[in-house]
Amino acid sequence: MDDEILVMGICGTYDLDSANGRMLEIMLEQCSNLGAATIVWDHGSKPLPLVGADGCWDDPNVKEFQELATKADAFILSSPEYHGTMSGVMKNSLDWLYSKHTSGKVFGLVSTLGGQPSNNTLNHMRIAARWIHGWVIPEQAAIPHIKNAFDENGNLKDASLNERVSSISTSLVESTIKLRR
Ligand SMILES: Cc1cc2nc3c(=O)[nH]c(=O)nc-3n(C[C@H](O)[C@H](O)[C@H](O)COP(=O)(O)O)c2cc1C
Repeated sequence: MDDEILVMGICGTYDLDSANGRMLEIMLEQCSNLGAATIVWDHGSKPLPLVGADGCWDDPNVKEFQELATKADAFILSSPEYHGTMSGVMKNSLDWLYSKHTSGKVFGLVSTLGGQPSNNTLNHMRIAARWIHGWVIPEQAAIPHIKNAFDENGNLKDASLNERVSSISTSLVESTIKLRR
């Protein structure tokens, strides 16, 4: 690759030691193996205020988040499904991004569920990413029954799900390079 691309992971929880934090770790490592630089936003150490809360417009974490997003070429959004949609943490993160930060950039989507697989969170994140003029790749993954999804090494037990996740990382990096040409 001539110019290194930067992939930014955004987690739908405050804790990167969560299932979604782990999904980002897995996928950002895959992107890194494909030659991309990677970074993950840590809501635990740098929480974003709710959009509209007192003082939010001057919050230094917001400024840093937006600057990082401006530098990024692509994003991976990983959110737990809460009551049939993305978490509030994920929605608020996306609410802090406007097309000036994200226009023409590539998005890959993952969600985790306590129960049965569902595409709700994926579809809702797809709509939000479109609203900030992102190009969302068609590959996506919902990881159901999340408590039993990982083995003792933190890898997904289900081989086909593993392949699906890896195809998201590959498509994200390849699509970002294609869009840059
Ligand atoms: C408020 C709340 C709502 C939830 N709603 C759903 C739901 O609608 N469907 C589902 O399968 N799991 C639901 N869950 C379970 C979460 O999706 C699950 O705990 C999460 O994916 C685990 O990821 P994490 O370790 O990154 O937090 C809910 C959990 C919480 C706390």
